[in-house]
Amino acid sequence: MPFSPGAGNSDRRPGPRTPRLTLAAEKAILGGEFSVMKDDKIDSLAELLADTRSVAVLTGAGISAESGVPTFRGREGLWKQFRAEELATPEAFARDPALVWEWYDWRRGLIAPVEPNPGHQVLAGWESLFDDFSLITQNVDGLHRKAGSRKVIELHGNIWKLRCTRENTIFDIHDTPLPEIPPACPDCGAMLRPHVVWFGEGLDPEVLDAAFAASAACRAMFVVGTSAVVQPAASLPLVAARAGALIIEINLEPTPLTARADIYFPGRAGEILPLLDRRIRAGRRAGGAGPEKGRS
Ligand code: APR
Repeated sequence: MPFSPGAGNSDRRPGPRTPRLTLAAEKAILGGEFSVMKDDKIDSLAELLADTRSVAVLTGAGISAESGVPTFRGREGLWKQFRAEELATPEAFARDPALVWEWYDWRRGLIAPVEPNPGHQVLAGWESLFDDFSLITQNVDGLHRKAGSRKVIELHGNIWKLRCTRENTIFDIHDTPLPEIPPACPDCGAMLRPHVVWFGEGLDPEVLDAAFAASAACRAMFVVGTSAVVQPAASLPLVAARAGALIIEINLEPTPLTARADIYFPGRAGEILPLLDRRIRAGRRAGGAGPEKGRS
């Protein structure tokens, strides 16, 4: 997990693939109008998405907050309680692997009993609602998969996966607590490490390529429950916007991305996503999908 600079800057001009003027007109009407009543925004967005086939979603810790998983930078956030440099860096692991494992074992113990919430469930359903759907997450909690999402791009890894420090073999291990700290590789006996991306480490290039490709190809991107300050994830919505996609942000509070979003819904993901989902499905039943199917 690389450093966390302020969100990058990008000028936003409709890309060559912006399908129709109506999208730009809708953006102008909806853009930045926080005052527009939530219902109106939801109706307008549902109408827009009635025709859209390619949708991407980027999630952060906020989508799991209603399931009881602590966020990182919120009031009771993990980074308010713990020092990331002592627990989530390769240096910290080299210095004291037992301490790092005790922390990950504690986090696994927190996450194991919790259930996905309606926000996760809606996104699992969108995999079949939209022809071309991509779910990109910064979360390592595995709750999207637990909710039934099959195609999840896990940018920062997964806390239920452990990796051999000698052979890089990855194991799915769900024991909580772990029987042994630090855990040993079942194949070669070397120490295992959490298969997550730590501060100062690069992301898996294949995973990153998939995330950027999905962002550049989508017609609409939802950005849900992320403070939008950690790179490269925070750049994905800008890649999508530069390609002409509609950017919809859902967050309890504004973030560095809010001013760049076309639509901002202040509130809980677990409440707003089900509302949106109902309206979008109603709109699609009424209108039928696919400007790409030549209704341009
Ligand atoms: N619904 C919507 N948004 C919410 C909710 C909720 N119920 N609860 C909290 N939020 C918002 C907060 O307002 C905040 O903007 O979710 C965001 C959570 O931000 P962070 O705690 O910074 O988490 P995230 O953006 O996922 O962090 C990115 O940083 O520490 C690293 O690896 C870690 O993947 C993580 C990355």
